[in-house]
Amino acid sequence: MSQPDLHPVPDAFAAAARIRREDYERLYAESIRDPDAFWGRVAQRVEWMRAPTRIRNVNFDPADFRLRWYEDGELNATVSCLDRHLATRGDKTALLFEPDDPAQPAQRISYRELHARVCRLANALRNLGVRKGDVVTIYLPMIPEAAVAMLACARIGAIHSVVFGGFAPHSIAGRIADCASKLVITADEGRRGGKKVPLKANVDAALKLPGTQSVETVLVVRHTGGAVAMQMPRDRWYDAVIEGQPEQCDPERMNAEDPLFVLYTSGSTGKPKGVLHTTGGYLVFVSYTHEAVFDLREDDVYWCTADVGWVTGHSYIVYGPLANGATALLFEGVPNYPDVSRFWEVIDKHQVTLFYTAPTAIRALMREGDAPVKRTSRRSLRLLGSVGEPINPEAWRWYFDVVGDGRCPVVDTWWQTETGGILISPLPGAIAAKPGSATLPFFGVRPAIVDAEGNLLEGEAEGNLVLLDSWPGQMRTVYGDHERFIDTYFRAYPGCYFTGDGCRRDADGYYWITGRVDDVINVSGHRIGTAEVESALVLHPKVAEAAVVGFPHDLKGQGIYAYVTLVAGEADSEELRKELIAYVRNEIGPIATPDHLQWAPSLPKTRSGKIMRRILRKIAENAPDQLGDTSTLADPSVVESLVQQRRVM
Ligand code: WTA
Repeated sequence: MSQPDLHPVPDAFAAAARIRREDYERLYAESIRDPDAFWGRVAQRVEWMRAPTRIRNVNFDPADFRLRWYEDGELNATVSCLDRHLATRGDKTALLFEPDDPAQPAQRISYRELHARVCRLANALRNLGVRKGDVVTIYLPMIPEAAVAMLACARIGAIHSVVFGGFAPHSIAGRIADCASKLVITADEGRRGGKKVPLKANVDAALKLPGTQSVETVLVVRHTGGAVAMQMPRDRWYDAVIEGQPEQCDPERMNAEDPLFVLYTSGSTGKPKGVLHTTGGYLVFVSYTHEAVFDLREDDVYWCTADVGWVTGHSYIVYGPLANGATALLFEGVPNYPDVSRFWEVIDKHQVTLFYTAPTAIRALMREGDAPVKRTSRRSLRLLGSVGEPINPEAWRWYFDVVGDGRCPVVDTWWQTETGGILISPLPGAIAAKPGSATLPFFGVRPAIVDAEGNLLEGEAEGNLVLLDSWPGQMRTVYGDHERFIDTYFRAYPGCYFTGDGCRRDADGYYWITGRVDDVINVSGHRIGTAEVESALVLHPKVAEAAVVGFPHDLKGQGIYAYVTLVAGEADSEELRKELIAYVRNEIGPIATPDHLQWAPSLPKTRSGKIMRRILRKIAENAPDQLGDTSTLADPSVVESLVQQRRVM
């Protein structure tokens, strides 16, 4: 292997790494040969109330579908994340909170303090009638209470459903209605980049929408101190309900397969689905991957910049790091406030050693040049991670050379909400990196590439990425819709889990994720279903029909391109275009704001009435010479007029 783009493991790093090349090969081979032995041993890293004797019970065949790990084990996730550290790490910082405003003091919360805070809230939730199996919705900014709330739910066996603080009332309501949530935990307001986000007002608006009657109580964290309307007796101040609660709370005994959380994510069809993760396998998997992929040491200061509203925050801010007794930094702010050196300044301020962020942030900061990076030290860093979307080689190299000063390995981690944790990534002390490739599978993970007909492709190949076998952190079902789970992931390619991603495997067996092959758009690392944006658009009284596709975007990876047909008699105008874009933003949230909206007198459809998205994608990409075969269209002239319109935009 003498490719110019091969980055071997830095010597200094390899010398002290937890897992080296020979270990990787040996452990990977063992994990595939005897998964029961392998995952049985790994399971001992978490605290069990009753140790599992049955390790895996898996069959991906829809006719006899089984997906269970550690099924006779019993545990409570918070015991691994909190109680077991008290004796040896009670005073160690569990969460290091860095507020949006750098002038505000950072907060250090020790494991002892975090345990106490979680227990107090857990007791309060029990008093409010929350029981094992109830769903609690968490709509909070990136403040310590977000982690406390998740863990307090886990403590009493309630299922948390965290809703990203950037979602609008309509999106919150849909996520509450789908799982009949009983209680919502929110804050008066959030802060991001010096601006305030009206969280409580958004919850109020959401709870006026149909389907949300299940909510009995809203707990409100006083964060900014901004004025909010409290509706009694539904709304309660968080501080008041935890007042006087004991700092001990017996953890609920959970079966390994009892739900830990639901997290809604966009799929290719219809409304977002509630991805359900269970307790035992998830915890084993996220703690193990966190330790191995980040080469975690006792004195590391680990910072993942994701929001807890996404799976990365669940697995690699809260559960993985805390189960490992790590110090995790929780950042309320954004990369460019007060200026574009903020990330690097926070790294210096807290002597961060492990840093994990998204390509979209790297690209945005790269655009600002090297100076804002170079005026900081970053000597504390020893590893850099990337997640959420493919990282282009140029951004990878900048991250490695400029941010890491060429010293720190970069781990490009591929995974999904559905996978619970990292599945393909270099292990930093073992696997040489290639910029743009997530490299090789983690232990126990069996990726494969199939063509459109489902034939397994060997050797160098490009096609759809599937997984041939289960791993403990795999999602178990779509909340309330097991059929949808099986249909979405296990029917396309029998015997395989279908990821929805395209992928290439090179001559060294390295995997290169090429992006989604379904109708999911990855905007700045956030998943948006084209169908969601279309449904929001057609809610507008002037819109007859809409079709939404992704297109390549320099900063966001992909942008959102909407084609809109107005109802007969409505005239298009610049004003209406702006109104419709704002409409989507208000319905779903800022992350779904279309970048372009093109008027479409009509949409290209097959004779059976199916919209031909392939063509719309090419027009959005501004590649009208690559439209391909248009002969199956009901009316080919539609395409010509869309191409003309695109030119004048
Ligand atoms: C994409 C985020 C390339 C991919 C953890 C996947 C990536 C989707 C990478 C899941 C990566 C995530 N390289 N693509 N390293 N990481 N993706 O559910 O398309 O928010 O299917 O989970 O992001 O997004 P999700």
